Amino acid sequence: MWTIISFCCLVFVGVQGEPGPELWRLEASTHHRIVRDLEDSGDVDVWGHSQDHAQVLVEPEAKSRVTRALEEAGISHLVEVEDVLGLVEEQRAQRRKRSTRSKRAAQALDWNSYHDMNDIESFINWVNVTGGDFVQVIPAAVTEEGRQVLVVHVSDPTVPEPKKKIWIEGGIHAREWISPAVTTYILYQLVTEWRDMLQVTDWYIVPVANPDGYQYTFSDNNRARMWRKNRRNNHARNGRCKGVDLNRNWNLKWGVGASSDPCSETYKGPVPFSEPETDGLQKVMTSIGDMDLFITFHSFGQTILYPWGWTNNAPANAKQLNHLAKKFADKVKDTSGGKIDYKIGGSGPLYGLASGATDDWAYGRLGVPFSYTIELPDEGRHGFLLPENRISSTVIETAAGVQCMVSYLANFGSCARRKTRTRQPIVTPRQQNYTPGQLSFAPRQENLNPREQNFTPREQNFTPREHNLTPRQLSFISRQNHALFRG
Ligand SMILES: *[C@@H]1O[C@H](CO)[C@@H](O)[C@H](O)[C@H]1NC(C)=O
Ligand SMILES: [Zn+2]
Repeated sequence: MWTIISFCCLVFVGVQGEPGPELWRLEASTHHRIVRDLEDSGDVDVWGHSQDHAQVLVEPEAKSRVTRALEEAGISHLVEVEDVLGLVEEQRAQRRKRSTRSKRAAQALDWNSYHDMNDIESFINWVNVTGGDFVQVIPAAVTEEGRQVLVVHVSDPTVPEPKKKIWIEGGIHAREWISPAVTTYILYQLVTEWRDMLQVTDWYIVPVANPDGYQYTFSDNNRARMWRKNRRNNHARNGRCKGVDLNRNWNLKWGVGASSDPCSETYKGPVPFSEPETDGLQKVMTSIGDMDLFITFHSFGQTILYPWGWTNNAPANAKQLNHLAKKFADKVKDTSGGKIDYKIGGSGPLYGLASGATDDWAYGRLGVPFSYTIELPDEGRHGFLLPENRISSTVIETAAGVQCMVSYLANFGSCARRKTRTRQPIVTPRQQNYTPGQLSFAPRQENLNPREQNFTPREQNFTPREHNLTPRQLSFISRQNHALFRG
């Protein structure tokens, strides 16, 4: 019976082109052992997570194996999208049409379309040149294909420490295109509209942590659009299975919930930090040391996740992590007019156990007290193929959420715990030279009372009721935790 059906369908698809992968909805959670096994062996590529169903991509050659395994386990499924490559082709055609039409602005970037590595590199150059003393571009690694992994440090050198240190990473998974759109937009905001925040904060932005993989998703092959890993040659199965999942390669409880099969989308690599991208980034992060906030942007799922990923246990400051996540979620909801409603939770409990991710490492090894993975919109309707007309609203809402979190953490600006109004920045002659023309500080008000002027953010402890520990104390606790878990 099954052979007849597949025979008929293959012939049918064959008329229009080679059979492509299908998107299936399984009536089982992604935590289900069968689903995990199929992912580990590379037979399915898990896209969507929820408590009661899993969304998985199934290649034609794996269909019969997957069907059999599901039948044996009594898990039903339905085909959500039959022609995934068709959707990819549709979006590609739209991009082709547009790119022949439009001339790009000086900064080589906008947030109405998706941009490849060449555009993003020009943008980083533009930021570097216009940023002057405020911007420093740190090369963290050179990839297999010779691209640089760049960290953009944005800081006001005239403002002395202490300042809150914030690390933002994007594009570690190649196909999650909305992620670099968000990181580049935050970078743009920092060197234009958000300059007053540099009075109290210091930022490190990694626009694209996986440049080879990301660029590969822009190649002519429609299948490449779904690539997740980097592009390293694993020398596995005659070079058929390339790449390591860079978000399974970090050294904390490495191996839990990650695949050892080089063909799997969640291949963890031969050893922790085997990849130039992860090893280079961890070295820069370690050299910076005491960071206050770490965020890595992924898609999709509209969920803000905090550690741990490798265990279902709650971290020591789960309550504070949840509280700060809510600042983000509430601000996004507000900015989107109620449309974008984030879920919040631990990544193990919500997404299933997985180790080797950056947020666990930043939290557990580096001791960053606030560490998050933000799964950007949507909830699964378009998934990785979020249409271009969703980019601008998504980056604006997300940036507003991040600004609110940071404002809360630094007790400065619109989401400050104490209702100070934004301090008027001190404009030095050097700052005035920062960029020609279009940038302005636009201080919102003039009359600060003396108490407000004297406050320095580090002195402001968390209020006792919700936060009985300072961020530094919390980071000490998370280091202690790490020592406990090591045993
Ligand atoms: C950034 O700009 C400075 C000059 O302001 C230059 O020396 C440096 O090489 C630039 N960095 C990159 C990565 O382009
Ligand atoms: Zn991801």
